Amino acid sequence: MGSYYEQVQSDLIKEPKRWLVTGAAGFIGSNLLEFLLRFNQNVVGLDNFATGHRYNLEDVRKSVSEAQWGNFHFIEGDITDLDVCRSACEEVDYVLHQAALGSVPRSIEDPINTNRSNIVGFLNMLIAARDAGAKRFVYAASSSTYGDHPALPKVEDQIGEPLSPYAVTKYVNELYAKVFGRVYGTPTIGLRYFNVFGPRQDPNGAYAAVIPRWIGSLLNGERCTINGDGETSRDFCYVVNVVQANLLAALTENKEAINQVYNVGYGGRTTLNQLYRMIRDRIAGERPAIASLEPDYLDFRAGDVRHSQADIGKAKRLLQYQPTHSVVEGMNEAIPWYLSR
Ligand SMILES: NC(=O)c1ccc[n+]([C@@H]2O[C@H](COP(=O)([O-])OP(=O)(O)OC[C@H]3O[C@@H](n4cnc5c(N)ncnc54)[C@H](O)[C@@H]3O)[C@@H](O)[C@H]2O)c1
Repeated sequence: MGSYYEQVQSDLIKEPKRWLVTGAAGFIGSNLLEFLLRFNQNVVGLDNFATGHRYNLEDVRKSVSEAQWGNFHFIEGDITDLDVCRSACEEVDYVLHQAALGSVPRSIEDPINTNRSNIVGFLNMLIAARDAGAKRFVYAASSSTYGDHPALPKVEDQIGEPLSPYAVTKYVNELYAKVFGRVYGTPTIGLRYFNVFGPRQDPNGAYAAVIPRWIGSLLNGERCTINGDGETSRDFCYVVNVVQANLLAALTENKEAINQVYNVGYGGRTTLNQLYRMIRDRIAGERPAIASLEPDYLDFRAGDVRHSQADIGKAKRLLQYQPTHSVVEGMNEAIPWYLSR
């Protein structure tokens, strides 16, 4: 007998639905898009290309059939424009809201634009989804909401003070979603992602996440930099697990599961030093010159938490979330993808 998630997938393909993926040209959004199209779903994508790329959409197009690609309708637009959000939500069954300006350092340098996309844009999307009668509004929350709370692993109802403007915006999302559930009965689910990685995560730019940035540097034979002593740890989560969590959150009929937030990680903890060796040793197979390359250690970065690890018990219990890929298993898929590009 297959798993619950396999059952969900086979039901989906029998009865295609209409989905809106905001941030569809970004890393996580394009992975959601690819999955949904492969399952013959109708998908509307919305993105303003602030940090996403047309080549991500092109990459998805190449990985699905022509007929599946024909089920995709893309809107280039900004979620800070309510009319754009309303037209994107028309006739949509499920909203997977990913569009936001990510990155803690970006938010420290530019809190106004982070606020605009992440709070004004989020509120617009909630209103548009509510008024369109969407069955579910699933949104990307963040582990940054744990802020300075020392407990490990992180449990959903124990959060600390936010450490960055980005963390404030992601927490405000949760507050709005909760209030919309209470006041208007809008069915929302927030997914607090923990350091997601995988194909199409951007290796370039000042605000690139650590895994694609290091992969990019090592492929070019360049030294990587580590902020701090390298003993900072994270629950790195492969994007396939995140796709699963989104699907389960959208489709659950468990009433207890709705209007809640969930940790979405793997439930493990890897230090930056371990992560560095994991990536370097895999790439050294292709680039022997980097086999003994050591990283440069810099100062700790403002706004970063020291350790992070998800307790995924709540998602397992209420959503039947069962992550399929550990950090090593994810890396074994992600690195060949970067090598092939
Ligand atoms: N990657 C992670 O580890 C991680 C961790 C926690 C939370 N998240 C959240 O997950 C979501 C997706 O992140 P990602 O890693 O795929 O980042 P990403 O930058 O690759 O994707 C975000 C997408 O949203 C789009 N976008 C931004 N502002 C927009 C606006 N105003 N209007 C329309 N589109 C807009 C961007 O162009 C981009 O394509 C974000 O909400 C992010 O905060 C990500």
